[in-house]
Amino acid sequence: MANPSLLILPGDGIGPEVMAEVKKIIAWMGDKRGLGFEVSEDLVGGAAYDKHGTPLHDDTMAKAQAVDAVLLGAVGGPKYDKLDFGVKPERGLLRLRKEMDLFANLRPAQCFDALADFSSLKRDVVAGLDIMIVRELTSGVYFGEPRGIFTEGNERVGINTQRYTESEIARVARSAFELARRRRNKVCSMEKANVMESGILWREVVQEVHDKEYPDVELSHMYADNGAMQLVRWPKQFDVILTDNLFGDVLSDCAAMLTGSLGMLPSASLGAPMANGRPKALYEPVHGSAPDIAGQGKANPIACILSFAMALRYSFDKGDEATRVEKAVEKVLAEGVRTADLMGPDGGTPVTTVQMGAAVLAALDASL
Ligand code: IPM
Ligand code: MG
Repeated sequence: MANPSLLILPGDGIGPEVMAEVKKIIAWMGDKRGLGFEVSEDLVGGAAYDKHGTPLHDDTMAKAQAVDAVLLGAVGGPKYDKLDFGVKPERGLLRLRKEMDLFANLRPAQCFDALADFSSLKRDVVAGLDIMIVRELTSGVYFGEPRGIFTEGNERVGINTQRYTESEIARVARSAFELARRRRNKVCSMEKANVMESGILWREVVQEVHDKEYPDVELSHMYADNGAMQLVRWPKQFDVILTDNLFGDVLSDCAAMLTGSLGMLPSASLGAPMANGRPKALYEPVHGSAPDIAGQGKANPIACILSFAMALRYSFDKGDEATRVEKAVEKVLAEGVRTADLMGPDGGTPVTTVQMGAAVLAALDASL
């Protein structure tokens, strides 16, 4: 059988630097585990705009639709701030999510023991934390119509629309319940049903899907503002958090800091199964392009490495190899290897992006 195909889109800022380390791990899987991939690479975001005048060329979009999985670094940067909205780097990423119909965005927030003192919260609040945010990714206020900046009388008005259909809510709810069954069997759904009709519908549909199809899973509902507060008060009360596109964007950044650094968090964006049974999938670190440190070898490649681990688990059914990568990361952190974002109050000398990648590879070798 042919090797599974991967499209790599390093993107902008620190994207190419962290992706360079992931490419070494992909190669390692081929050499040492007989798990070869057909790898191709292309441009996205500002890098694509510079070459083609668009943040995602149609050919790249077509390639993304055809491969088994896409790995993305990051998009955006101050150089592109003044561009028209429609060609901003972020539009490239949003087009990929929308056209691949990647409706379920999985953002695990796990606190590695070696980093429990790095969180801005107290150790006992975060040590052992393991939660999964399931964010709806292809609808809601990110895509709802009408949208735009219009003139009304003698002033301008900015409009975006929060819009959810029952089927959009139901399918992402199913993803959350399925995941919960393989974890601690709890889902907490977050919306603002107290002020938004779309939130009322969200709550009703999630409850219906639960009652009909997943009565064995423990389900609770929470207003998203309370959810934000509970996430920093006592995050271990949660297992799977299910929420919409915009609340999920905010709550997942918040959850990221529980783990010590935004440089640690991977994500998987999954859609419907393709003909070969694999889900449409894009994997990317939760952190952005970090233009302030780009090109300096300071970036932490772990979030991107862990995103590849998620690809092994969710696209290629190689949970054992995913665990091998995660354990290698854990070992490196336990040994005290730290990039600049992981410098504790007691200081120390940070390693470079490349050194961190090499440390993970060495830990992988040691796992054999
Ligand atoms: C994220 C990012 C994106 C989003 C941006 C880059 C468009 O913040 O993936 O969380 O808002 O979804
Ligand atoms: Mg975000």
